[in-house]
Amino acid sequence: MAEEAPSAYPTGLAPMETFEEEEDTAGPTPLSRLEGNGISASDIKKIIEGGYNTVESVAYTPKRTLLAIKGISEAKADKILAEASKMVPMGFTTATEYHQRRSELITITTGSKQLDTLLQGGIETGSLTEIFGEFRTGKSQICHTLAVTCQLPIDMGGGEGKCLYIDTEGTFRPIRLLAVAERYGLNGEEVLDNVAYARAYNADHQLTLLQQAATMMSESRFSLLIVDSATSLYRTDFSGRGELSARQTHLAKFLRQLQRLADEYGIAVVITNQVVAQVDGMATFNPDPKKPIGGNIIAHASTTRLSLRKGRGEQRICKIYDSPCLPESEAIFAILNEGIGDPKTDVDA
Ligand SMILES: Nc1ncnc2c1ncn2[C@@H]1O[C@H](COP(=O)(O)OP(=O)(O)O)[C@@H](O)[C@H]1O
Ligand SMILES: [Mg+2]
Repeated sequence: MAEEAPSAYPTGLAPMETFEEEEDTAGPTPLSRLEGNGISASDIKKIIEGGYNTVESVAYTPKRTLLAIKGISEAKADKILAEASKMVPMGFTTATEYHQRRSELITITTGSKQLDTLLQGGIETGSLTEIFGEFRTGKSQICHTLAVTCQLPIDMGGGEGKCLYIDTEGTFRPIRLLAVAERYGLNGEEVLDNVAYARAYNADHQLTLLQQAATMMSESRFSLLIVDSATSLYRTDFSGRGELSARQTHLAKFLRQLQRLADEYGIAVVITNQVVAQVDGMATFNPDPKKPIGGNIIAHASTTRLSLRKGRGEQRICKIYDSPCLPESEAIFAILNEGIGDPKTDVDA
């Protein structure tokens, strides 16, 4: 799985390499930094083989999970955790400091001013955002726009990073990215090179792709991970009545991995979800047809939940369905050829 060298960065953008070199800024700490103090290079190799790429990922892991790695003894696990927790702040902090950190939080523009205002900046990095709605409400279109805007410099509403795009429904269209790139004056070819795309074919595959995602994120700077949609394969792969609990367990595991990536790499994770109107397997835990599928598992995993519905013509309405700090209000946006934007009738200041 040799990764390609990062391509030249779109014209006008800060090169990612520069961004990565700033060692002391927030960001993932390479595992190699653990070496020394009784932790050898071969220990580190074992940890990497166990699926960990950063000091953060190790620090956030319960001891018994580390013990499951081949060749890691109890004493070694204690040592590793002790060293990792020295490098990763995991204790208490004052609310003042936390407030400061949150005020520096990077948000990624949706392309619509009204939607960004509703979201107080855009899609938040370091957490999970779920976008749900019926067919054709613009879920995938938002994903396509974000796949480009996440590459913009931070002062232009971007995340200065690449995008990882997991497509489960086969609706990814690079041509839509090119249209968005043109709008922002970015080089289309470079924008496409900065999007790592994978089609997922079943729920197990979808989960496996996250392993690869973690490796890629440890090698170059990503700012966004999209899963469009997060739930569709679960509906097909676990369709029987008796499979509900297996499905929820699998889905919960998938979502935990997503959260882990958001925590470790500070990326924004955006997942889409459908609402089911007719009675099918999902109805058992989705009695309300206007509610997103996946039940409590998704509800608890997503930090911000956005509900989309259709408006007139190209207009769509986004409602904040659940958020730790945003009120339950709405904004109108539009699906345009150049991506997500504001309704034309609205003259912006
Ligand atoms: N190039 C385009 N210009 C304008 N609107 C488009 C374009 N491509 C797709 N759309 C609109 O996007 C909508 C589909 O949105 P989509 O994000 O695929 O829905 P969902 O993923 O929620 O099912 C359709 O109404 C379609 O007309
Ligand atoms: Mg879609």
